Amino acid sequence: MMKATAKANTNIALIKYWGKRDEKLFLPMNSSLSITLDKFYTITTVEFRKELDKDIFWFNNKQANKSDSNKVSRFLDNVRNLASVNFHAVVSSENVVPTAAGFASSASAFAALAAASTKALDLKLNEKELSILARQGSGSACRSIYGGYVEWKKGEREDGKDSVAFQILPEHDWNLSILSVMVASSQKAVPSRDGMKRTVETSPFYNGWLQTVDKDLEKAKEAIRVRNFESLGKVVEANALKMHATMLGAEPPILYWQSGTFEVFQEVQELRSQGISAFVTIDAGPNVKVLCMPQDELKVYETIITLPHVQNITICHPGSGLTYI
Ligand code: PMV
Repeated sequence: MMKATAKANTNIALIKYWGKRDEKLFLPMNSSLSITLDKFYTITTVEFRKELDKDIFWFNNKQANKSDSNKVSRFLDNVRNLASVNFHAVVSSENVVPTAAGFASSASAFAALAAASTKALDLKLNEKELSILARQGSGSACRSIYGGYVEWKKGEREDGKDSVAFQILPEHDWNLSILSVMVASSQKAVPSRDGMKRTVETSPFYNGWLQTVDKDLEKAKEAIRVRNFESLGKVVEANALKMHATMLGAEPPILYWQSGTFEVFQEVQELRSQGISAFVTIDAGPNVKVLCMPQDELKVYETIITLPHVQNITICHPGSGLTYI
């Protein structure tokens, strides 16, 4: 039977990937580092059938829109190439989020799709090969193959064969709390793909990003190695702010922050002034992730949940890599 199901968790970048050097192969300008989370994931089933004349994509029990269906089909073309087959597939994907948070998660989506589709065709890819494949659906997906703390080395080659993620520390070796804070959001964000392109092409600050991101990455890895939360938090927060600063310099400027984003950021600074070690990171949208030590997570939760723009908070911890179901 040409059918398989896989589950992948999403991940949050501690040192961000921002900017592509190759749009088609999803090759990044810089290396990055993430934690795979335990609470947000995608479960995907892929079934190849000889009688189909096109791919069919179900997302959260509804037939997906054209743009998402096209992305899935283009991704499956890579898989069909690898297996030298031309069958189409029925793909059904469920994005599991504990609240109606609506976190877009291309990272878990393409990691699960890479695993399920290749298993369905009996391709037997190892994790490295899966990471390279998942990357070609969404860059950050290459990190979601693995659990725990994961580095994505940007690589040098033009064919992308060395642009691959690997685990630097398993999920159980250092427990941290990552509070995923959803704030009121009305505006539609600029998709990360467009935001990156505009930043690389027009922001005068982008060179500053490229000149310092490797140092940030080294500091973060060293902090993880010696389990120093304070120095990890500092570099993580600074790196996220620096990424957003590059976007403010783009033409036209990109600002993902909203009132709630500032509110959470300022409250985290306030918590720090009271001696609680907490730090933020923010991706291409208004929501905020707050990092703290597990012993502080309730205090941080109780403080932040009272803020006017905060809709809900999910407390996450480091999660596992791919699983097959
Ligand atoms: O891979 P994408 O298109 O989901 O882009 C990810 C961009 C950031 O989330 C902002 C940073 C990152 O490294 O995940």
